[in-house]
Amino acid sequence: MIRDIVVYPDKRLKAVSKEVVDFDSSLHALLDDMYETMVAKNGVGLAAIQVGVDLRVLIINIPIKDKEKGQDQPKDNTLEVINPIFLEEEGKSRYEEGCLSVPGYYEYVDRYKKVKIEYQDRNGIKHIIEDDDFLSIAIQHEIDHLNGRVFIEKLSILKRKKFEKEWKNRKS
Ligand code: CO
Repeated sequence: MIRDIVVYPDKRLKAVSKEVVDFDSSLHALLDDMYETMVAKNGVGLAAIQVGVDLRVLIINIPIKDKEKGQDQPKDNTLEVINPIFLEEEGKSRYEEGCLSVPGYYEYVDRYKKVKIEYQDRNGIKHIIEDDDFLSIAIQHEIDHLNGRVFIEKLSILKRKKFEKEWKNRKS
């Protein structure tokens, strides 16, 4: 089921999401809905709070070309990350980011180049993942959502002011 996306400046985006304790069917339904919603909106990542659920859950699906399935974001290529913890962060990276909660706006953001993360999958099994490329950026962006932060908060004051002005004009 496709769920509604929470759009900036909705206050829910400021919520600090809670640890997942129950790895049950309602969590699985949430993950499945998040995938459907993300693909429907042409996103590469989504945090649960973006569909109004304040749990430490995020998904990432970096498009690939799957000729057999005729789909570039097959479900089995979805990384489901629950209760993530940073183990290592190093280097610097700058990448143009966007967000389904700030539709149509893209800007360069400073992040760590490489991250190493411990997380749980939908069955509660622990895993470790590390990356120094686009996945690293996406994970950092989505973990920010779990802590109530949106990428525009990382912009310079000047760019932020310009954004807020543009955003207001766009909506009126
Ligand atoms: Co986002």
